[in-house]
Amino acid sequence: MFITFEGLDFCGKTTQANLLEARLRGHPLPGQDAVRPVRFLREPGGTRISERLREILLDRRNLELSETTELMLFAASRAQLVTEVIRPALRAGETVICDRYADSTTVYQGYGRGLDLQAIGHINRLVTDGLVPDITIVVDVDLDEIERRRREAGLASDRMESSGRAFFERVRNGYLELSHKEPDRVVRVNGMESISAVEAAIWQVLQKHSTKSIERISRGAP
Ligand code: TYD
Repeated sequence: MFITFEGLDFCGKTTQANLLEARLRGHPLPGQDAVRPVRFLREPGGTRISERLREILLDRRNLELSETTELMLFAASRAQLVTEVIRPALRAGETVICDRYADSTTVYQGYGRGLDLQAIGHINRLVTDGLVPDITIVVDVDLDEIERRRREAGLASDRMESSGRAFFERVRNGYLELSHKEPDRVVRVNGMESISAVEAAIWQVLQKHSTKSIERISRGAP
């Protein structure tokens, strides 16, 4: 089972991904009969090479990084992660939780930066070797709340976080569009609620997803 978390910076997805990881160490996933090993990953990163690409991508000094170079480096980081870690882990029967994956490229570089969405679709398929998550949770928080949390954290912004408000509006809309286009895979949860309410909503999404998969299998559908 391959689960990904998506959302704007400061939406709380990393907190939620960590909570799910902790829960799955003690409880089987809905629809599974036993606890399985869990692999937690974050993008960009997760391999020695991907972590080096991450440094280039997030370094505030790299102002001259072109939009296309940015796209290619995120893609390269992911290609390495899929081949070196995600595929082997899934083959070994592990549950993989990834904090960001190909949808981040679709919405940040496509909807956000305005690069060609069709080209990004091709690149995503190439670098993931067609590996699509079973379920993607989008933790949705509005821009005012994101800005409030960012101020409260008082951290210096990385290169990506220095993009303006209009950019993040487009990114948020991109996520919402994906959830409409692929409702069986991409599910929005309301990130404006408390941490425990969001956690419960995510568990419900996983339960529903498992019920739907069982129904599909018993109907003989792929
Ligand atoms: P990170 O510090 O990991 O942020 P977060 O905790 O919000 O995931 O930085 C990742 C940044 O890179 C984040 O701003 C989103 C951006 N990003 C893309 O623009 N495209 C991508 O394909 C990925 C994976 C991330």
